[in-house]
Amino acid sequence: MSDTAKQTPSVPQAEKPWNGRFTEPTDAFVEAFTASVTFDQRMYQQDIDGSLAHAKMLAHVGVLSTAERDSIIKGLEQIRAKIAAGEFNWSIKLEDVHMNIEAALTDLIGITGKKLHTGRSRNDQVATDIRLYLRTEIDHILAEILRLQTALIVLAEREADTIMPGFTHLQTAQPVTFGHHMLAWFENLERDRSRFIDCRKRVNIMPLGAAALAGTTYPIDREFSARELGFEGICENSLDAVSDRDFAIELTADAALLMTHLSRFSEELVLWASAQFNFVELSDSFCTGSSIMPQKKNPDVPELVRGKTGRVNGHLISLLTLMKGQPLAYNKDNQEDKEPLFDTIDTLKGSLKVYADMMQHVSVNKEAMREAAIRGFSTATDLADYLVRAGVPFRDAHEVVGKAVRLGVESKRDLAELSLQELQQFSTQIQEDVFEVLTLEGSVSARNHLGGTAPEQVRAAVKRARERISS
Ligand code: ARG
Repeated sequence: MSDTAKQTPSVPQAEKPWNGRFTEPTDAFVEAFTASVTFDQRMYQQDIDGSLAHAKMLAHVGVLSTAERDSIIKGLEQIRAKIAAGEFNWSIKLEDVHMNIEAALTDLIGITGKKLHTGRSRNDQVATDIRLYLRTEIDHILAEILRLQTALIVLAEREADTIMPGFTHLQTAQPVTFGHHMLAWFENLERDRSRFIDCRKRVNIMPLGAAALAGTTYPIDREFSARELGFEGICENSLDAVSDRDFAIELTADAALLMTHLSRFSEELVLWASAQFNFVELSDSFCTGSSIMPQKKNPDVPELVRGKTGRVNGHLISLLTLMKGQPLAYNKDNQEDKEPLFDTIDTLKGSLKVYADMMQHVSVNKEAMREAAIRGFSTATDLADYLVRAGVPFRDAHEVVGKAVRLGVESKRDLAELSLQELQQFSTQIQEDVFEVLTLEGSVSARNHLGGTAPEQVRAAVKRARERISS
């Protein structure tokens, strides 16, 4: 945990707020079973920000005096500093981050602390906290996506002319440029980025004011609170406000898709870094060795990212399942939203960070990629297109080239290494100029249109990509 100063809950001093209604104490196991403070304390900043806005709003509408408001503000800021310093005693008896902070406030400033909860409930409080927390995290995620996209753009520009085999079915298909391949992943991330930007709009809506479920009898000013907290909108319906977790599901779905993209990319890097492909070398600082086999350099980072995709996909299913049986409005089930969400965010941010760093240090083995492209008859389609230009119907051209490839396979030669006479035995339309289209450079340069793999197009796409991420 990065900024949460997490602590083991200690023996509590404070009383439970609902003691009035109860005659027996909570069973010790139930207390631990129902508590969320061990994990929701990570939202302490947002909980305090929400309480500050609420107290200011209550003073603004005359429910609290300005002296009471100021005392609450001062107390909450002291508590914030104490938590940040790791000096706060979290109590499991006080169940969650909300009641821990409220009880600490009353300990600190006395009776005024008990007035903070006027006109609100933990139900609208927790929904507000999560939204504030996710809003901040989305901004971090967006920044990391951009860092990775930038690394890919730099790599694409550097390797705009580098030729590799392009694959379908993991069989060599046609030559492509390495830069073009990197920009394909850029596009995946660009869609991810736009999904997170869009998700943020629905996260940044304020539930506060819905109270437990029906609203409150106090003359609250929700626009005031929303302005204080930087919310772009206010939840229109109090029942929906406390029970909606669509935004959490949506964020997790976006994260699962992004992780799925990184997982696919990882699969390529793992293959490419193998001795069999030898297309790329990952920097030593992103690999580990084997404790028994001295020759090994393992691509642990992409492997782990590929593996971690599973848990994020799992969290998406957890959250969907969490919500599917819930009637309106708030149910305690909702407390189960936090751990999957938090782990999703940690996993996604970690994966993006390590990827952005790793992709800045990838070296490319041009020779190995070139050889692989030649070995795989990757210009066969170009020969077919050549015949079509000479008037041969495509299906016939396909057959001619198939025969030429068979000769190449049998004699262990690439198409460009066959002689003109050998080629002409399959079609008399083949002339001396055929060798121009059989080169890898000729093949990639010929695909010179928007979205094509030609180096010229890659450079133009790099330029556009830079503009797209800076607007
Ligand atoms: N810890 C709770 C949660 O995470 C806070 C809201 C509890 N509200 C209630 N009425 N028990 O959802």
